[in-house]
Amino acid sequence: MISNLLNGFVEGDVDLYGINPIDPEDFPKVPKFVGVVLQDPEKQLVMPTPADEVSFTLENLGFTVTRESIMNSLKNVGLESRAYSPTEYLSGGEKKRLCIAASIVHKPKLLIFDEPTANLDPWGVSEVINYIKRLKEEGSSVIVIEHKARHFLPLTDKLMVLINGEQKLNLTKDLISSKYEEVVNTLNNLGVDASKPNLTRRNELYTKPVVITANDLWFRYPSSKEYVLKGVSLTLRKGEVGVVVGRNGSGKSTLLKVLSGLYKPDKGSIKVPSLNGINGKVRKRNLVFYVPQEPDYMFIHNTVLKELQSCSNKSFNFDEVPWVKEVLNESPYKLSHGQRRWLSYLIAKLHSPEVVMFDEPTAGLDIRLLKQFVNWVKDFVSEGKTVLIATHDVRVVCDIATNAFIMSEGTLSQVSVEEARDYLEKPVEVIS
Ligand SMILES: Nc1ncnc2c1ncn2[C@@H]1O[C@H](COP(=O)(O)OP(=O)(O)OP(=O)(O)O)[C@@H](O)[C@H]1O
Ligand SMILES: [Mg+2]
Repeated sequence: MISNLLNGFVEGDVDLYGINPIDPEDFPKVPKFVGVVLQDPEKQLVMPTPADEVSFTLENLGFTVTRESIMNSLKNVGLESRAYSPTEYLSGGEKKRLCIAASIVHKPKLLIFDEPTANLDPWGVSEVINYIKRLKEEGSSVIVIEHKARHFLPLTDKLMVLINGEQKLNLTKDLISSKYEEVVNTLNNLGVDASKPNLTRRNELYTKPVVITANDLWFRYPSSKEYVLKGVSLTLRKGEVGVVVGRNGSGKSTLLKVLSGLYKPDKGSIKVPSLNGINGKVRKRNLVFYVPQEPDYMFIHNTVLKELQSCSNKSFNFDEVPWVKEVLNESPYKLSHGQRRWLSYLIAKLHSPEVVMFDEPTAGLDIRLLKQFVNWVKDFVSEGKTVLIATHDVRVVCDIATNAFIMSEGTLSQVSVEEARDYLEKPVEVIS
């Protein structure tokens, strides 16, 4: 067993700029050469503020830390104004941006990005693509692990597909550029999402009964003078799938939490006609259920079974999700990222709410799980339920949205589904 590796056994050799990371003697030398951005920012960030996080990387490696170097690094990811505010107050995408800043501040020779686009707005995605281009020009190497391969294909020198730990495909740049369409088809057949999504137009359900109405919502966090929601109004009807798109930090998660009754608005009203228009009882009755951006925030029991049992007395149908049977006595935290997300959807469903608010539900999902999620939502709304989704994922907009909203600096505007699609696509298309 290799004592310096967590939870694993490794055989074989790795040669990294002349050192062997598997050798305990060499292991401490690794971070100087490598920057890693983990899939899940919550597992990576350890310091109280963004400035501390970036200096932590530099200090650990023996570099001199100056205020200028910290501010420059945070400026590159749009976080300079948040340098000294608590990291826990950052939005999901802002946390991801901080992980990127802290992993590249020492200019590593090799950068490993695990799902860099998950939780990033399209401008963040194009910044990552630009950064990778720059690193390549400067002679550094980059490994990108990504479910949405489309934006990275034009940059790729070597492409590998792993299925159950086995290498199924190994392609080089020449082949990718000469047989692009063929490569895209092969990837799609192997379950890797590489093509541009098509917009599936849906019927607009404007005549169905109203399920939830929000009027002139204002909200600010107690630690801040700035309002995050500035007069937001929206109406959702039975059977609709609304999507909210917008930049990192624009207020999408905050809106979903306010609509689900987790935060009380400073001003404005939320009406749920099935509660006879009574404000503030949304949460008590679980009529509007919020599924968080980070699924771990939902788990409160030490086994999957207890999580499921605590939601409902109804017996659980394992045919829908056979893998759950295998992990019933595991801690939810031991499941894979996709499984933890799936467990959070099951919990939502078992509560039988009228409306589910999904916060970035597809971040880190492969195409197979994405399709299952799309079907989950379609089934749910076909029962007369309603869904609102905050997302940066254009596939969600194209596959299931019936109406769309853009959140911009705390204000919300209703747009067509096409406009939401273009909003997410354009900034990345320009660059790739
Ligand atoms: N608990 C908190 N205390 C103070 N400020 C917060 C808190 N949570 C979020 N914020 C700030 O409120 C703003 C909106 O955050 P929110 O999480 O709603 O954004 P978002 O649109 O969901 O972003 P993302 O796309 O990155 O998920 C951001 O500036 C964020 O830093
Ligand atoms: Mg969010």
